[in-house]
Amino acid sequence: MRAVTWQGIEKVSVQDVPDPILQQPTDAVIRVTSTAICGSDLHLYEVLGPFMTRGDVIGHEPMGIVEEVGSEVAHVQPGDRVVVPFTISCGSCTMCTQALPSQCETTQVTEYGSGAALLGYSKLYGQVPGGQAEYLRVPHADYGLMKVGSRLPDENYLFLSDILPTAWQAVVYAGVPTHRTLAVIGLGPVGQLSARIGRHLGARVLAIDPVPERREMAERHGIEVFDLAEDTVGEIRERTQGRGPDAVVDAVGMEAEGSPVAGLAQSLAGRLPDAVARPLMEHAGVDRLAALHTAIDLVRRGGTVSLSGVYGGAASPMPLLTMFDKQLQLRMGQCNVRTWTDDLPPLVEDPADPLGVGDLVTHRLSLEEAGVGYDIFQKKHDGCIKVVLDPTIAPAPTD
Ligand SMILES: NC(=O)c1ccc[n+]([C@@H]2O[C@H](COP(=O)([O-])OP(=O)(O)OC[C@H]3O[C@@H](n4cnc5c(N)ncnc54)[C@H](O)[C@@H]3O)[C@@H](O)[C@H]2O)c1
Ligand SMILES: [Zn+2]
Ligand SMILES: [Zn+2]
Repeated sequence: MRAVTWQGIEKVSVQDVPDPILQQPTDAVIRVTSTAICGSDLHLYEVLGPFMTRGDVIGHEPMGIVEEVGSEVAHVQPGDRVVVPFTISCGSCTMCTQALPSQCETTQVTEYGSGAALLGYSKLYGQVPGGQAEYLRVPHADYGLMKVGSRLPDENYLFLSDILPTAWQAVVYAGVPTHRTLAVIGLGPVGQLSARIGRHLGARVLAIDPVPERREMAERHGIEVFDLAEDTVGEIRERTQGRGPDAVVDAVGMEAEGSPVAGLAQSLAGRLPDAVARPLMEHAGVDRLAALHTAIDLVRRGGTVSLSGVYGGAASPMPLLTMFDKQLQLRMGQCNVRTWTDDLPPLVEDPADPLGVGDLVTHRLSLEEAGVGYDIFQKKHDGCIKVVLDPTIAPAPTD
């Protein structure tokens, strides 16, 4: 089959790889019909390179049609239309039964001290072949696979795999709707949905992003938007009675703009030989913390900071003095996808489209165009906000 593979720093290409097969009675194999590129894939594309192996199949936001199921997968059958969560969880261990499937004790990658294994997400998360491919083996499909309706387009359901529950978790962890004023830092796909969910749950939402078309998209959904500028924090504080918002979601993560020193360290670490770079990244602070520091500065005293942006450095310095003095509450983590997804389908199926899921994808490309997709998503060229790859588009013939 054709699959998008990691080939080096900022290099992906489509290769022929063996078709996946059932390996466990709890597995399923699906034929992928849509598979998105995530901001987290951009971390693999560059910063997390030392944890990747040339040829790794990447991608973790897939949906499609079930081809085959193992003997212990009872709730779906061949022919069913399904969405696959990016976290691989058993559904029955102590963590999974406490609404923390992203910490699943059955699939934890203990070699790296990581939580649940993830689809297509480096050695740190189990080196499981990912979903930017024609077919995908879904481990623990008996718990993970979500069966969805057949009437609406893929885009209505696709984001149940990751960014919709991620944004939902970010906003719930931010304490909305008890907290009534929410700031969202970063208006990539996760920030867009976090901001819309904040509004849907009754909060006033203010958001920051340096990219004009991302601010314009948010504005269409009733969000008050701000460019990333020196006085932005002061301006938002002024508009929130001088106190700052009750809660702040950081939807940027470790590659934030505005952290030049750490940015250099990251890009150097990404280019060192793996054996040197890995311990450096595991033990040193190489995250770009500009967005997180803005979140801590901006939130009102006693407020909550909710991180959905991914951070990876083991010793990143934090403004602990301010965090303690402001009496902040901090929540974070990979999304516990299946904890939220039973409640979300009515929202994505509602003809009124309360979360605006029809207004997020800017590019639908063939698998072969993955290289272009990664490039424009990373550089924010061509108005790119969310890319969906479609393996059913046949590759252009080559002579
Ligand atoms: N916790 C989870 O389970 C989970 C799931 C999916 C994605 N993520 C993470 O969420 C983050 C966002 O992902 P995305 O798909 O929206 O990707 P993205 O990279 O498109 O979004 C980041 C946005 O932040 C903006 N930005 C950069 N620096 C900024 C700054 N200093 N202040 C304000 N805005 C700034 C960028 O312009 C961009 O729009 C990534 O770190 C990703 O890894 C986490
Ligand atoms: Zn993701
Ligand atoms: Zn589990």
